[in-house]
Amino acid sequence: MGRVEGKVVMITGAARGLGRSHAVRLAEEGADVIAIDVCEQPSAVEYASSTPSDLSETARLIEKSGRKAVTKQVDVRDRIGLKQAIDEAVAELGRLDVVIPNAGISPLGVDRPLSAFTDTVDINLVGAMNTVHAALPHLESGASIILMGSVAGLMPRSDGGGASGPGGAGYSFSKKMLDEYANWLSVQLAPGGTRVNIVHPTNCATEMFQNSAVYRTFRPDLEDPTPEDAEVTFKAIHGMPMAYLEPVDVSHAIVYLASEESRYVTGLQLKIDGGMLNKFAAGFSFG
Ligand SMILES: NC(=O)c1ccc[n+]([C@@H]2O[C@H](COP(=O)([O-])OP(=O)(O)OC[C@H]3O[C@@H](n4cnc5c(N)ncnc54)[C@H](O)[C@@H]3O)[C@@H](O)[C@H]2O)c1
Repeated sequence: MGRVEGKVVMITGAARGLGRSHAVRLAEEGADVIAIDVCEQPSAVEYASSTPSDLSETARLIEKSGRKAVTKQVDVRDRIGLKQAIDEAVAELGRLDVVIPNAGISPLGVDRPLSAFTDTVDINLVGAMNTVHAALPHLESGASIILMGSVAGLMPRSDGGGASGPGGAGYSFSKKMLDEYANWLSVQLAPGGTRVNIVHPTNCATEMFQNSAVYRTFRPDLEDPTPEDAEVTFKAIHGMPMAYLEPVDVSHAIVYLASEESRYVTGLQLKIDGGMLNKFAAGFSFG
């Protein structure tokens, strides 16, 4: 018997990266999955985004575990389209137990336009809230909402100074606001038996964090930094000997928070950071 046997899970940003990893792990543990993604290139983002064939591949991997997959191509900023997609998918699968608003962008760099700030907030923060609010009418006691935070949401305020630019500021702002949203929403939903938790991963080995804009942001001292140059910094910022998490390192926590094993866990801010935040708290700095 799987750890989430018979549950129906909805994940945004499911075409690749962390979203796909969560979908696959949850399907392996017995869940059917509603996999949502826009599969289009956001204008503010320099790295290539996912495609419709990526979303189909996620569905194939879910079905490989013997579970059902329903895919929907919709933008999380489109609240009406999102509600329609979720309503249709829930009608098809019969219920909704777990909601994971995972879709996000990270357009780092001083050369990005102001829309890098506004698009990031619209997708990472407003899009996550759109997802939860569209799903809420389908949730019953025992449901679990798992938000995707970031160590960026737990670091001291960064308002776009340095090399991360307006997109970096939008990213940190969004994740900080999601921390608060998790706190406030968990209080509102606790009496009805729905849980709200948020995970805060450090760097993950996905396209979002393995691209030249990220390397330039973290190695502003070099003109054209390589992945190996960036890795020197990524190893230095962690307490443990590591540069990146693998997506499945986050998905293991997602399975726990989706399952009955965590049935009385709500309002949790779960760091998965290889000791990074405490290293900074103990005095480490980039300089
Ligand atoms: N990669 C990291 O280092 C890292 C660290 C901490 C937190 N996170 C968070 O994890 C989540 C997933 O990141 P990832 O690394 O898998 O990124 P990714 O770029 O690999 O995947 C993100 C997915 O979201 C989709 N998406 C983007 N905008 C969308 C929109 N408007 N509507 C619907 N879908 C949209 C993309 O098409 C893509 O498939 C994000 O919320 C991110 O902030 C990532």
